[in-house]
Parts: sequence; C-alpha cells; structure tokens
Amino acid sequence: MTNTLTFLGIESSCDDTAAAIVRHTPGAAPEILSSVVMGQTALHADFGGVVPEIAARAHAERLDICVEQVLAETGIALKSLDGIAVTAGPGLIGGVLSGVMCAKGLSAGSGVPMVGVNHLAGHALTPRLTDQLSFPYLMLLVSGGHCQFLIVHGSDHFTRLGGTIDDAPGEAFDKTAKILGLGQPGGPIVERHAQNGDEKRFRLPRPLLDRPGCDMSFSGLKTAVLRARDSVIAEKGGLTEQDRDDLCAGFQRAVSDVLAEKTRRALVDYLALNPVEPTLAVAGGVAANTQIRAVLETVSLENGTAFTAPPLALCTDNAAMIAWAGMERFRAGDRSDMTLAARPRWPLDQSSPSMLGSGKKGAKA
Ligand code: KG4
Ligand code: ZN
Repeated sequence: MTNTLTFLGIESSCDDTAAAIVRHTPGAAPEILSSVVMGQTALHADFGGVVPEIAARAHAERLDICVEQVLAETGIALKSLDGIAVTAGPGLIGGVLSGVMCAKGLSAGSGVPMVGVNHLAGHALTPRLTDQLSFPYLMLLVSGGHCQFLIVHGSDHFTRLGGTIDDAPGEAFDKTAKILGLGQPGGPIVERHAQNGDEKRFRLPRPLLDRPGCDMSFSGLKTAVLRARDSVIAEKGGLTEQDRDDLCAGFQRAVSDVLAEKTRRALVDYLALNPVEPTLAVAGGVAANTQIRAVLETVSLENGTAFTAPPLALCTDNAAMIAWAGMERFRAGDRSDMTLAARPRWPLDQSSPSMLGSGKKGAKA
C-alpha cells in the first residue's frame, strides 16, 4: 500500500471561488493536478469593496462548476478521491457556508472523508506545497485581507508574533489608489506609478515603529496620503502625474520600511528557536510587489535566513493550498463530520489575542 493521497480542495472564504486537486506521495514533491480560481472583481467593482451577499451568491452558483472542472481536467472520479478539504473559516460567513455546504454534499454523496481547513493555515502551509519547507519557518502573510507574522511549527501549531490592528497592506494600496483617482486593484497600479516617483518628497508616517513588537497599522498611512493629496490640491488646484507618482513612491516606501523593521523584530523571535534551516516565507498578493519583496529578502539575508515566495498564483487565494493543508491535517488524524461549522473568525494561534481589524475583505482572524 502506498501512502499516496489525492485531495480535492474547496475555497470560498472571500471573493475567489476555487477548486483544486492535489496529489502527494511522502518523499516526493506534491503535484497540483488541477487548480481553478474564478474571481469576482467585476461583480464588486461598483461598490468599492467586497459585498458579502453578492460574494456568497456567486460562490453558491460557481462552486459546483469549479469542482466539476477540476474533476474533468484530471479525469479523477469523485469516489476515488482520498479526501475533500474545505475552507471552514475565517472569512465572510456566507461564502464560507457555501463552501462547507458544498463539501458536505459531496462527502455525504460519495462517502469520501471531509476535512475542514483554516484558510490562514492554507496560506501558511503553502511553502511546504511549493518548496517542501521543514518546520519551523517564519511566515509573513501580506494581502488585501491578511497581515500577520506566524512561526509555523507544525500543520496545526502556529505562534502569531503580530499583525495589523486595522487595515491590511493590500487594502492600504487599494485605498491609496482610490484617493489618487487610480484604478483597482490598487497594488500593481500604485507600484507602477511609484517607479517614476520621488519617494522622499512627501513625509509619510511609519505607524507603530515607535512601539515594541510586531503589530502593524496601515490605516493612518492611507489618511496621510489623503491629507498630502488635499494640500497639493489646495496649493495648486489639482494633481499632476508627477504628484501622483511621488505620492505612490512615498507610500510604497513607508509600507516597505514598516514591513522591513517588523520583519527584523519577528526574525529575532524566530531565530531564538535555533531553526536548522532558517527561512522566511511570504504569501499574499502584496508579495508581488518588487520593492517589498526586495526589502524582505535583504532583511532575511542580513539575518542569515533564506527567503522564499511561492509563485503568485499560490500566494493569492486558491484551493490547492486548501487541498494541501487538508492533506497535512488528514495525515495527522483530522476528520470532519456533518457537524462541521463555518467560522467567521478562527485565529490560528488560539493563545494570541484576536485581531481588531475587519477590513473590506472580512475578518483578519
Ligand atoms: O492575496 P490577494 O489576491 O487577496 C486577498 O487579499 O486575499 O491580495 C490582493 C491584494 C490587493 O489588495 C492588491 O492591491 C494587492 O494584493 N497587490 C499588490 C500588488 N499586487 C497585488 N500590492 C502591492 N503591490 C503589488 N504589486
Ligand atoms: Zn487569503
């Protein structure tokens, strides 16, 4: 008997409906046999954020399409799967419920075991799917919905060193773009403008650097961009392209500086564990930012730590990470039954206080 496992993953906690099939044999690299992500950006575009009711309805309509697609692409029959992993939280409750109900139906109909997975564990365990990283490693999750430092000790053992107390960095990029009249999602657009800007022209704050620890705050930074914009408009009657570029550059540098300093502090706590192969892994849409990646890599190397970032399609929300996390938990003995509940909040580190921010993409756990 081999210990090869083939898992279906289902993800619907925010604004991406996703299904994937992952196969793994111990000792070999895991294989993503198929991964489908149906985004909802267009559905929410007019509302300036994700509308939970619209998201939940879209998930309910599209989950079975995604599941059918990955089964068809791989030619694998539902009944021959070893497990069905589903995001059971944290996230927007309607979306999480859609996924959990879908998984329950599939499991009840096929007899395939089900495992409820923490969405954040999916992100945090991704470097084991992509790079077979060994525990413990340090993870920085930076996206539109998440921002936290985690020491990943095991598939169900995390220490949260700190996180945002309000907005996630991606959210701050998106709001900055909105303030400057640029498009959405803001991250890549602000990054493009920043390339031509003077990052020193506007003096923007580096929130919470004066306080010990790894907690972060990004909402004041966005307000500072708003004030700087208004004072330019008051002085000159409008914004030139150069003003926008300079504001983007100043904003991006402030985010980079905060993440760099907080990473230095997180590394001190992590390295105190004397990990054999010290590694910082980053995940989330903001990890696509070239300047932010570069500063994180520099800080890691300065501290004798390797740096890794999974490919972008696996940094952002997807179901391959859920299938993988489910498989890790299944091997550790986890099984869920029909009482599996959808959880809007589900901190990975139960000993750490709950996050305050709820943000445009739901609870920060
Ligand atoms: O991980 P993700 O796809 O979704 C969740 O938030 O769950 O991340 C999307 C976020 C958006 O806020 C987007 O503006 C940001 O990541 N982002 C970036 C870049 N590309 C995407 N932020 C900064 N620089 C980028 N190049
Ligand atoms: Zn996510």
